[in-house]
Amino acid sequence: MELILKRCTIRPWRLDDAESLAKHANNRRVWIALRDLFPHPYTIEDAHTFLKSVINSEPVTLFCVEVNEAALGGIGIRIGTDVHRQTAELGYWLGQEFWGRGIMTEAVAAFTDFCFEEFQLRRIYAEPFANNPASARVLEKTGFAFEGRLKNNVLKDGKLLDSLLYARAK
Ligand SMILES: CC(C)(COP(=O)(O)OP(=O)(O)OC[C@H]1O[C@@H](n2cnc3c(N)ncnc32)[C@H](O)[C@@H]1OP(=O)(O)O)[C@@H](O)C(=O)NCCC(=O)NCCS
Repeated sequence: MELILKRCTIRPWRLDDAESLAKHANNRRVWIALRDLFPHPYTIEDAHTFLKSVINSEPVTLFCVEVNEAALGGIGIRIGTDVHRQTAELGYWLGQEFWGRGIMTEAVAAFTDFCFEEFQLRRIYAEPFANNPASARVLEKTGFAFEGRLKNNVLKDGKLLDSLLYARAK
């Protein structure tokens, strides 16, 4: 799979992405918006561990966001199980130096379309923390509907936060 877009390319992760991945992922401002599963600090060993696991996964659902031939971010889905098997959660991040250029808006729009075609999904949702207006804006710009505010849904960095539920349904 390779989605060649105007501002970026979405492609499978490769083992040689480790250095670039660790460089861009090792940022508190990226980590603060993500699950604690995303390491901080983000070391080269973390990058190797992630890349080994993702390269061996089947189906591949986590992808690299590449700009100017460098791995600058990630985008992926987690497909639900049981009665949620046609539902997936979307997640994404981008290296801070590249924020505000429309890259993730382009990536989320194209990747969501790809996922609806590639996987048997009827719903893709995302849950940005309520203190992350940039992510909420990306979802609004890419056709996700705001479904509600989940009170006290997240404990991140010692703070209790609401999250915002956005979804696209097919
Ligand atoms: C959220 C994130 C992916 C956005 O990527 P990006 O490529 O910078 O996004 P875009 O440039 O496509 O769009 C960002 C939009 O948010 C807006 N925005 C940015 N900061 C904002 C703020 N503080 N308040 C309101 N809107 C804001 C921008 O103006 C832009 O909207 P516009 O085109 O209407 O002007 C990036 O900031 C990031 O990786 N953050 C850390 C990880 C993260 O938050 N992941 C998502 C977890 S749910």
